[in-house]
Amino acid sequence: MSRQDFTSSKVTSKEEAPFDINELFFSRTDDRGVIISGNEVFRRISGYTWDELVGAPHKIIRHPDMPKGVFYILWERLKKGLATGAYVKNRANDGRHYWVYAIFSPVDGGYVSVRLKPTSSLFESVISLYAESFNREQEDGLSPVESAGNIRAKLRDLGFPSYSAFSSYAVAQEVIARADVLARVEDERLQSLIRILPVLEALDEQHASLFASFAKTRGIPSNMRIVASRLEPAGGPISAISQNYRLMSDEASTHLGSFQGDDGSQSLPAAVAKKVYGALFMMAASSIQCEVKNVAAEGLVSGVEADGFQGEVDILDQLSEGYMAESRSVLQSVCSEAMALARSAKDLRQLVTGLDSIRVLCRVEAGRLSAQSVALTPVINQLDRFHVEIDSTLEQILTLADKVAAMIETSMARSFNCPLDKLPAAERNLSQVYA
Ligand SMILES: Cc1cc2nc3c(=O)[nH]c(=O)nc-3n(C[C@H](O)[C@H](O)[C@H](O)COP(=O)(O)O)c2cc1C
Repeated sequence: MSRQDFTSSKVTSKEEAPFDINELFFSRTDDRGVIISGNEVFRRISGYTWDELVGAPHKIIRHPDMPKGVFYILWERLKKGLATGAYVKNRANDGRHYWVYAIFSPVDGGYVSVRLKPTSSLFESVISLYAESFNREQEDGLSPVESAGNIRAKLRDLGFPSYSAFSSYAVAQEVIARADVLARVEDERLQSLIRILPVLEALDEQHASLFASFAKTRGIPSNMRIVASRLEPAGGPISAISQNYRLMSDEASTHLGSFQGDDGSQSLPAAVAKKVYGALFMMAASSIQCEVKNVAAEGLVSGVEADGFQGEVDILDQLSEGYMAESRSVLQSVCSEAMALARSAKDLRQLVTGLDSIRVLCRVEAGRLSAQSVALTPVINQLDRFHVEIDSTLEQILTLADKVAAMIETSMARSFNCPLDKLPAAERNLSQVYA
């Protein structure tokens, strides 16, 4: 059978092409996805010969059940020079299938994909998500770009803010599950990063609710001034108080803006979460790339791999080292942002305390005006309610921000086994590699 026949054939069997969980494999392609090389495990599981694989497009092992939308997302990211991860169902030469979790990375002249056997509980949800996406492509005639949009929306429903957040979480879960199945020591570094994510999410929610509470207070000073003007001349102090309240409340709102991330497009907690996801991906990917490199190096020594394979070992080595350095660099910036977040929350509390004393002053003044101030009562009651709301949200923000800062610090120390001030300076920006 010619290579063309292999790629066009849609013959599949329900059977699985078996491989062991401790087996890791990789392939390297040019920038169009044409296979250049790989390790012997990759060749064996695919069921092809090297003559058939080298020079063939990687879709030689494409399984017809795979949604087009997944490959659309993959190539969209790869073409931007970004690493990515994906669950992929492949078809071996004999029609059997095998699932992998693949980590795709841009390298000089093309891409490298390292793969492991997925075993996490997340994998089960992905199988149904893929089946649903595939059906929608078939039944509703979705284009790859539409299907990609649909997949991203489904992932958001599952709680992932973006595809990259999903693939980071997935690679970490797969690395953790694999260590578990192989009864290896669990990688605490990944777990400690994963634990930070829900805290950042809660912080983001509280941040949004604080914004909403402040928005609700905006009309109150004007209402107060209107009422005060009707009480003239006795309402003078209330007018002055309402003006002070407006000024301080504006200041607090501006300060709330400092909870904005680097690019200003999202909240600081969401921007920090994005970086944590990035560090998670880099760290988990690096550990698998390192292990594949060791498998490749052993294959070279034992003679399983052909001469000239050292170049592949070197590429995997550089990749793994680079990603580990990257995760360290990202965590460093996460660490300083988390501290800034905690500081910012404390400054905001001071401003709100000031605001609260103006509210109390307003109550006192209204009490002094006694019967005259009846019209003020609903406005002041409203202010009281908002302050209770703001105080409780702020209290939660302070607790969460401190918790995040402490968790990141612990995670940093755990990840690099080194005091923070002894770490070398961050070298590159994450967005150049993974975003
Ligand atoms: C490094 C690398 C590895 C890839 N590995 C696979 C793979 O294992 N299985 C697969 O179906 N596609 C893989 N692809 C994607 C294919 O190039 C291709 O986009 C996909 O099979 C869908 O083909 P189609 O878009 O022509 O339908 C890989 C791409 C790259 C760059």
